[in-house]
Amino acid sequence: MPTLDPHSHTDLAQGQVRALQLDWKVDFAARVLEGEATLLLSERSRGGPLDLDSRGLAIESIRAAPEVDESVPGRAQSGFAQTGAHLSYELHAALPGSAWMGERLRVEVPPGARGVVIRYRTSPGASALQWLEPAQTAGGVHPFLFSQCQAIHARSLAPLQDSPRARITYQARLHVPRALLSRMAARALGREPSRFGADWACDRFEMPQAIPPYLLALAVGDLAERALSDRTSVVAEPSQLDAAAWEFAEVASMMSAAEKLFGPYAWERFDLLLMPPSFPYGGMENPRLTFLTPSLLAGDRSLANVVAHELAHAWTGNLVTNADANHFWLNEGFTVYAERRILEALEGREASELHAAIGRHDLEAALVRFAKTPELTRLRNDLAGTDPDEAFSQVPYEKGYLLLRALEASEGREKFDRFLLAWIQRHSFQSVTTDAFLALVRELLPGADQRVPLLDWIDGTGLPKSAPSPSSARWGELKQQAAALLQGALPSREEAAGFTPPELLLFLQSIPAGTSAQTCTQLDALFALREKKSAELRCAFLSAAVTAGMPGAAERARELLLSIGRMKFLRPLYGALVAREQTREFARALFVEAAPRYHPIARAVLAPHFE
Ligand code: BES
Ligand code: ZN
Repeated sequence: MPTLDPHSHTDLAQGQVRALQLDWKVDFAARVLEGEATLLLSERSRGGPLDLDSRGLAIESIRAAPEVDESVPGRAQSGFAQTGAHLSYELHAALPGSAWMGERLRVEVPPGARGVVIRYRTSPGASALQWLEPAQTAGGVHPFLFSQCQAIHARSLAPLQDSPRARITYQARLHVPRALLSRMAARALGREPSRFGADWACDRFEMPQAIPPYLLALAVGDLAERALSDRTSVVAEPSQLDAAAWEFAEVASMMSAAEKLFGPYAWERFDLLLMPPSFPYGGMENPRLTFLTPSLLAGDRSLANVVAHELAHAWTGNLVTNADANHFWLNEGFTVYAERRILEALEGREASELHAAIGRHDLEAALVRFAKTPELTRLRNDLAGTDPDEAFSQVPYEKGYLLLRALEASEGREKFDRFLLAWIQRHSFQSVTTDAFLALVRELLPGADQRVPLLDWIDGTGLPKSAPSPSSARWGELKQQAAALLQGALPSREEAAGFTPPELLLFLQSIPAGTSAQTCTQLDALFALREKKSAELRCAFLSAAVTAGMPGAAERARELLLSIGRMKFLRPLYGALVAREQTREFARALFVEAAPRYHPIARAVLAPHFE
């Protein structure tokens, strides 16, 4: 396999790290993880340099890995094992403008070594971590820590080959304050006494399946757990456990629907962790422990598609993984397709089409956002020199989805489903590029590349003219009703009462530019939007209402922006506020106020808009 990940210093020709052993003290006072990482190579070293990714790490020492197998129990109590000789290493500063790449750590590995042991600590500003004050949690009493490694933040947790091409298994010991619970996206092996004394506990984990490093994940806080099925627990702060258990109760039926479509679930457990409000994404498919934004707690289960999405990643993404960020659509496009197939199985075609319509709407917005950088609207990218967080958009999700739908439409569902299963079976635990996709299409769907302009989809900008447009009768009505808002015509009371939450979302997202402030005020009353808990609905409405200049809209947007850090909402709301002369300064001041609560990734992505 070539070693060409543009976002990593990894050179697989030097050897491949196949297993990690982590031993971390989680120090809330200093906001660092401190300890050691043992990196075991898949074969004994021939001797020579080993380039690792690192970001902001303070390296204390690097030694050759000891000959004894450190996975043998009993090592924890004895402290750090006696390891081999000290090795020389060099930390190369990142190039100017590429701080996000981190620093290349080059270790000189002696011939015959089975790996290296690195003692180090993370930086208090580690980009993968957010350290929350008690006041930033639901309970308000204990601090909270969580990680978010995708795409290239794992290197700020530990020195490693931070490329999805370099899959790893791991074992970990987390020393945490005894009052707190820790979880990793791994098999939990239980709690032991910690060498740091009676106020500490040592939680042990192992991930026996080889994962791309971006799926490393941990969270520490005042957490409680409740079983939803024999394979799923929901984990949340105690005060949110009831609400979360109710909202995600459908998870077992989602899992059986998914297994019927894609084959057996490979990861033993599918636990759900409800994150603090600053979690920058809707969900993150960390294996065995999906992370979910609390903004999914709409009180009506209407946002459960995000759970279906993260579940689908268990096949598309976590088994079959994009080889690097240039092929991100293989993760997300396939997963959106799989998510909507799960929804279709559970709720029917009309419901899944509505979600496809919402997706189409998001895609149009992304194409507008990239009007000046159309190269970012390709499925296959060349992101060398570009921070993947900057390039992130709905394009790989929704354009990727539409490509798979186009193939399904052209080849028929039965054949396409066989293709999908083969994709998963053939490439399980592999990291793949778009060429692997093209090769399998040509093999299993002969002639499809004549019927669907695959390379236009993959290497072309924007959307091919032949792109399918998802449609449903209900969607057609909603579009007409939304268009009528321009003339000030609103749905009747009876019609309004009949809107389901996803219908209302699509309708609100479709409020045309140019709708009057007065019409927005009437909509607000008609649908009792003030009382809605769903952050999706509030965001969709308030973006339009701010644009229309509806009295009070900016204040309500402010409330939302202070209470949630999910980037999906931050972007359009700040965008709407900044776009209007009357609210531009308001937005700037608000960002200054809110930024300290946002996640480092969200802050980094938003900051340029205020420079
Ligand atoms: N893996 C992504 C989140 C992600 C992508 C984090 C890239 C960092 C870099 C996750 O599966 C995702 O797509 N979440 C969506 C859910 C939605 C599509 C249902 C989100 O966060 O909104
Ligand atoms: Zn996803």
